[in-house]
Amino acid sequence: MPTLSRSAQPKPRPPRLPEPLAALVLSCAVGAACASVACRPAVAVVEQPIGFDHAVHEAEGVRCVRCHLGAETQDSAGLMRVERCAACHRRVIPDHPDVAKVLQHWQDEEPILWRRVAWIDEGSGVQFSHQAHHLAGVECTTCHGDVASMATAQPPATHRLDDMDWCVDCHRDNEASIDCLTCHF
Ligand code: HEC
Ligand code: HEC
Ligand code: HEC
Ligand code: HEC
Ligand code: HEC
Repeated sequence: MPTLSRSAQPKPRPPRLPEPLAALVLSCAVGAACASVACRPAVAVVEQPIGFDHAVHEAEGVRCVRCHLGAETQDSAGLMRVERCAACHRRVIPDHPDVAKVLQHWQDEEPILWRRVAWIDEGSGVQFSHQAHHLAGVECTTCHGDVASMATAQPPATHRLDDMDWCVDCHRDNEASIDCLTCHF
């Protein structure tokens, strides 16, 4: 049983990746009818400002947590700052057009505004912990799909990450807590 601090106060959340998430269009936003099953994200591909490629880094043996530093030890997975990208890329293919854009952001001290693909609405009052799931042995792929074979990350095809039934079903199957206050504060 992982021991996570559970203070009565909602914890200030660590900074998240920059916000603009309009790219993920909900299919239910179009019509009035919105049966819960119909409310799945459209399969629209989330486009990113720079052509990052997960599969290329996976093939080079760069582990998920090298970039998503908190994915095993914090609530939020996070993403390394652009100067950490540059620490490799000043030497590694600096002339590649997408890498050149990354290095330009680093020189200009401008963060890259990646679009979010994985999130639970900030205002929903639901808490999620990557650390708790890592300690319980749940793999990244179980929740996020096979990101290692993708270029930019895309939402998983089989479920939404903010679907309470998906969370609760797995908790029930694994004898994890289904107490409302486990997830809602
Ligand atoms: C541990 C070193 C390392 C780090 C850290 C790293 N990369 Fe890379 N990256 C590589 C290597 C190695 C390649 C492949 C080089 C090759 O093709 O010869 C690569 C390839 C790329 C490419 C080209 C993709 C393509 O289509 O071939 C981009 C863009 C890129 N990285 C962006 C980033 C960004 C953004 C970050 C920070 C979030 C980052 N990298 C962090 C090592 C790293
Ligand atoms: C039990 C399911 C689950 C597992 C396992 C999981 N994630 Fe997540 N991940 C989520 C959910 C849910 C969110 C949205 C969380 C939020 O918005 O608070 C998320 C968000 C993220 C984000 C973006 C937001 C953030 O937290 O910075 C990244 C990056 C991420 N996950 C990477 C990973 C990696 C890497 C692993 C494996 C080491 C992993 N995740 C394992 C469910 C999971
Ligand atoms: C070299 C650094 C690097 C590595 C290694 C890496 N990622 Fe990422 N990850 C990124 C970048 C940059 C983004 C933003 C662009 C995108 O969405 O693809 C991202 C985005 C994500 C997102 C969406 C985050 C959000 O804010 O919505 C998830 C989920 C994710 N990665 C999971 C993984 C998993 C799982 C692995 C290991 C298989 C992994 N990543 C390995 C750099 C990396
Ligand atoms: C694939 C299975 C799975 C999914 C999906 C899943 N969880 Fe979990 N979750 C677990 C397991 C297993 C634990 C560890 C329980 C334990 O150690 O007692 C856990 C632990 C947690 C904890 C920590 C509980 C504690 O007592 O410390 C929280 C909070 C949590 N999950 C929230 C969520 C939320 C929110 C979602 C959906 C966005 C979700 N989980 C999806 C399996 C899952
Ligand atoms: C394992 C985690 C988990 C547990 C346990 C859980 N919820 Fe949720 N709940 C969620 C998530 C995730 C959402 C979606 C948040 C969002 O809107 O993005 C949610 C949403 C909700 C909503 C908003 C309406 C909706 O369906 O979107 C209500 C109301 C709610 N939960 C009530 C409860 C009650 C009552 C319990 C206890 C019987 C409970 N929840 C237990 C994770 C959980």
